[in-house]
Amino acid sequence: MKQLKILVIEDEKLIRWSLQKHLTSKGYTVFTAESGEEGIKIFEENHPEVVFVDNKLPNMQGLDVILRLKSIDDEAVIVFMTAYGSIETAVSAMKAGATEYINKPFAFEEIEVILENIKSKISIIKEIQLLRRQQKDIVTFDHIIGETSVFKQIIQLSKKISRTKTTTILLLGESGTGKDMFAHAIHNDSTRNEKPFVTINCSSLPETLLESELFGHEKGAFTDAKQLKKGLFEIADGGTVFLDEIGEINQATQIKLLGVLENRVVRRLGGSANIPVDIRIIAATNRDLKKAVDEKLFREDLYYRLKVFQITLPPLRERAKDIPILAEYFIKHYNHQFQKNINGVGDSVRSLLMNYNWPGNIRELRNVIERAVILESMNTLQAESLPGEIVLPGEHERTASAESKPNEEVDIPRSLPYNMQIPMQGISLYEIEKQLIKNALEQTGYNQTLTAKLLGISRDTLRYKAKKYKL
Ligand SMILES: Nc1ncnc2c1ncn2[C@@H]1O[C@H](COP(=O)(O)OP(=O)(O)OP(=O)(O)O)[C@@H](O)[C@H]1O
Ligand SMILES: [Mg+2]
Repeated sequence: MKQLKILVIEDEKLIRWSLQKHLTSKGYTVFTAESGEEGIKIFEENHPEVVFVDNKLPNMQGLDVILRLKSIDDEAVIVFMTAYGSIETAVSAMKAGATEYINKPFAFEEIEVILENIKSKISIIKEIQLLRRQQKDIVTFDHIIGETSVFKQIIQLSKKISRTKTTTILLLGESGTGKDMFAHAIHNDSTRNEKPFVTINCSSLPETLLESELFGHEKGAFTDAKQLKKGLFEIADGGTVFLDEIGEINQATQIKLLGVLENRVVRRLGGSANIPVDIRIIAATNRDLKKAVDEKLFREDLYYRLKVFQITLPPLRERAKDIPILAEYFIKHYNHQFQKNINGVGDSVRSLLMNYNWPGNIRELRNVIERAVILESMNTLQAESLPGEIVLPGEHERTASAESKPNEEVDIPRSLPYNMQIPMQGISLYEIEKQLIKNALEQTGYNQTLTAKLLGISRDTLRYKAKKYKL
């Protein structure tokens, strides 16, 4: 373990000086203070792991200093020093939160025994924290599935960057493409992995709450601030902060965040001390952040600070070869969970899955497979166990977009003639859709906007379908 930082709060010059000299010679980093007030200030600024507090101090009693330190950091380790050998005072100090006490005058050997005790306590706490983390389902790069070369390159690059110490990372990608997973895997693959990974969804809290979550607040900073509260940046010291949906933060918070990135210090709301923090920030969004910058909704300087290293996760439809691989992976997973024994997917289901658009990306695929595994009674997944929009993609999208964007200018029929006869040999909906789109394109002279309007679908959907049918 690295040597501890120690703060000595003691008004008697000789004791202060000799403790400092002795502890420094043992390799500890030592800060000293002559009064409680000064000690508290140093404590806030330097975060020492251990504080020696004298009982009799000029303005404040040692006991009050302990209470104050504990209110700043509940985990502060405090050694109480009392000259009078009074058991009652020592007991009150322990009640107030001191970890150990020592009677003055003391021998340096006693101090060393106490510090050894403290060190082993600290390392036990750290071990417990580590174990707790190991028990949780830890996401690593091993859990991230993908064989397409683009995706493999992204993983390689992410691994490389995870091991550099503080690089800020911006994760972009549609919903369900794996931004959360990457953020966790990067943290767990980094040298920070024994320190906290804290995550906050910037869109889930009102602005003022978000600020106090991130930066913390001093007691009394605002009406509801009854207690001092550390912010997430402080809590994550040494670790990683994952700012999800970064595109949603307001201008004031953007400025503060820029300050953290530039100076690596935070200031609590209502506070004046700059508290140094050693954190990696991973920000994520499914919004087009560049566009938000162009529209002056997002600060340009912050954008460039965040995108020191940018990872754009491709939508699932752009790595269709991974669809069957992921499907098999999720089938295995849900076989285990639901005690089923499904061998995989047949060719027809495979092509249905590969042809679908997957607007919800991997999350949607996982949910579809979960449902299908539950429903399936055969050895392989059948089309019947898939939701309608995958089996009949054209139908679903047409209906959905026609409903959500009613076309007011052109009065177009919303369905094929009801009396249309289905030929005995059956009909291919794919062929019909392809033909329909082809006709519409020809009719409009390949004007995409007009074609999309004619068909009651969005331009994106049209582009996607035209590509799919090679039109
Ligand atoms: N490459 C992958 N391999 C295996 N599972 C994946 C992969 N990517 C995503 N998943 C699965 O998809 C789910 C959704 O991914 P994740 O939550 O990381 O997406 P996201 O990009 O953060 O989405 P959102 O923008 O909605 O927050 C994950 O819980 C995980 O089960
Ligand atoms: Mg997410």
